[in-house]
Amino acid sequence: VSDGGERRETYTHGHSAVVVEHHARRTAGEAAAFLLPHLAPGARVLDVGCGPGSITCGLAEHVAPGEAVGLDVSPEAVEAARRHAATRGVANARFEVGSIYQLPYPDGSFDAVFGHQVFHHLRARTDALREMARVARPGGLIALREVDWGTVAHWPPDPHIERFLDLYHAVSRENGGEPQMGRRLRALFNEAALADVRIGASVWCYATPESTREWGEAYSRRVLESAIGDKAVEYGLADRAELEAISAAFRAWSTHPDAFWSFVQVEALGRRA
Ligand SMILES: C[S@@+](CC[C@H](N)C(=O)[O-])C[C@H]1O[C@@H](n2cnc3c(N)ncnc32)[C@H](O)[C@@H]1O
Repeated sequence: VSDGGERRETYTHGHSAVVVEHHARRTAGEAAAFLLPHLAPGARVLDVGCGPGSITCGLAEHVAPGEAVGLDVSPEAVEAARRHAATRGVANARFEVGSIYQLPYPDGSFDAVFGHQVFHHLRARTDALREMARVARPGGLIALREVDWGTVAHWPPDPHIERFLDLYHAVSRENGGEPQMGRRLRALFNEAALADVRIGASVWCYATPESTREWGEAYSRRVLESAIGDKAVEYGLADRAELEAISAAFRAWSTHPDAFWSFVQVEALGRRA
């Protein structure tokens, strides 16, 4: 993925079916819980890096009769989002292909500009945040939620899962991203001189048979079927045999009765001055 300029970067997960299906389960009620109380009916919201659009549709339902616009650099993601909105019967969400670095909107177009799990994939994060602020109206909200992969706590210990975490960090950074973005959101918002900055955090926690099965199965497949594995091989960080071993470890973990996984999701809210 590139905007054609100096910011060349690769989206670590890619858009294989297993990734898109996994992201399409996300809801605005969970992902944007820190933003929803600040969004009134009638508001116009932009969701940058919207992926398959399930969060955007939830935002649209929340602001009706306002509008939510989902934007993603991937045409496949935008197509998936349009299908999701049609199936769900959400008429006040629309989706467009475009880059966060060059948002195709005039200054001050939105009451709120939101992004979920996008900035840890970006190289030029300051430029991206400046562009989000540009399309927010003065006093409008800027909201980001980003994972911090450095906060993963899991049980039982497994050397292949430890190895996966190291690989994830290495591939993500090689791709131009920052896997520990969560802890850096406050610095990013301060640097952009946003007003009324509020930082909070919530936790994704998998500790039921259903949730460990879903998370473990998804990563068991993602290691083999999505861009993360391909890039690990391409960068000379792992070979296919090692990826197979990691995949098997996630599958075994997914049904372990003591399986536990948590990591911190940092939430940043600010206003365009
Ligand atoms: C981890 S996904 C998150 C999708 C969605 N926000 C969610 O939480 O389910 C990151 C998304 O950001 C998109 N993306 C990456 N770089 C982008 C850019 N420069 N401009 C717009 N979207 C971008 C990817 O195509 C991908 O759909």
